[in-house]
Amino acid sequence: MNFTQDIRVDNESIELINYLPNIGINNVREEILEGLRATPKYLSPKFFYDGKGSDLFEQITHLKEYYPTRTEKKIISSLGEKLDVSFKNLHVIELGSGDSSKISLLFNQISADELKTVTYFPVDISQSAIEKSASELIQQFSLKNITGIVVDFFHQLKLIPKPGRRLFCFFGSTIGNFDTSQARGFMKQLGNTMQSGDSLLLGMDMVKNISVLESAYNDDKGVTEEFNKNILSVVNNLTDSDFSTSGFEHYAFFNVEKSRIEMHLKALKDVEVNLGSEKFHISKGETIHTENSCKFNLDDIERFGMWAGLETVQVFNDPNKWFSLVYYKKN
Ligand code: SAH
Ligand code: AVI
Repeated sequence: MNFTQDIRVDNESIELINYLPNIGINNVREEILEGLRATPKYLSPKFFYDGKGSDLFEQITHLKEYYPTRTEKKIISSLGEKLDVSFKNLHVIELGSGDSSKISLLFNQISADELKTVTYFPVDISQSAIEKSASELIQQFSLKNITGIVVDFFHQLKLIPKPGRRLFCFFGSTIGNFDTSQARGFMKQLGNTMQSGDSLLLGMDMVKNISVLESAYNDDKGVTEEFNKNILSVVNNLTDSDFSTSGFEHYAFFNVEKSRIEMHLKALKDVEVNLGSEKFHISKGETIHTENSCKFNLDDIERFGMWAGLETVQVFNDPNKWFSLVYYKKN
């Protein structure tokens, strides 16, 4: 089962296919319950992104402390002719496309003649993010076609169309939001769905000074805190739970051993949460782990390629080597 609809912008239309109903609300509820029953408790970071969460993430990308977005954008903007790909009749699949601002930096560097032959598939769990970004993009660029795909890219990667030669873009170091075993599974799945001639541009945030890393997830304006707490409202909306966001504080730190920023919500007092017939007791000081954001090193670049069966062709960096944009090919 899927829902297909057309979004009309002026005289043009964007097709949007939503495969999320295939997952089923009971499975989503079970996934949430599984995390809340676990010790320590956790929630998947995919639940950050309702309409409000997508807006909050976009605000984060403009914060002075949040270096990844501006650093990766500079790398993409200066790719020019260096990227070893032909855009003629290419199908660009952007995983976790969000506001699509990074792909527009890539499209800016392609000639109008080539762009007319390119089709773009923004892929995201947030339908509102795709609707907003695709409507903006269609006015900015004369592409051959835009089709939005609403899926959970971890569980529904197979549903992504295979219309011809594809360039997958996975920007933002969103791959870092998987833990190591999830990343291995995801790269393996991605490699299996890719066909000879397909390629991948992968954004990876690299290990750096701890204070730079921790500031990026503890901004002065408290936007990251609001983003983190919004997950509880999303969970309340998806289930019949009664989390109160005011009962928790934002807690983010760099776990050196696991080379990742961990975000948690820490209970400010003893809390009782009801979800259907289940009651969860969360003690003062106990945390719900909401996100990992892994930070990588050079070995990880090769390792990811190996897991997916891809050749590492080019690595683009900023001068500080804070961020890597890696170009892999399936031979
Ligand atoms: N690529 C953009 C946005 C990164 S934010 C950038 O670099 O700025 C992460 C994006 O991935 C969000 O838009 C979120 O909605 C999407 N996302 C997170 N988990 C997802 C999942 N399991 N399936 C599909 N999209 C997901
Ligand atoms: C989407 N993802 C790569 C972001 C990150 O940095 O891990 C999400 C985020 N979490 C807090 N700030 C930004």
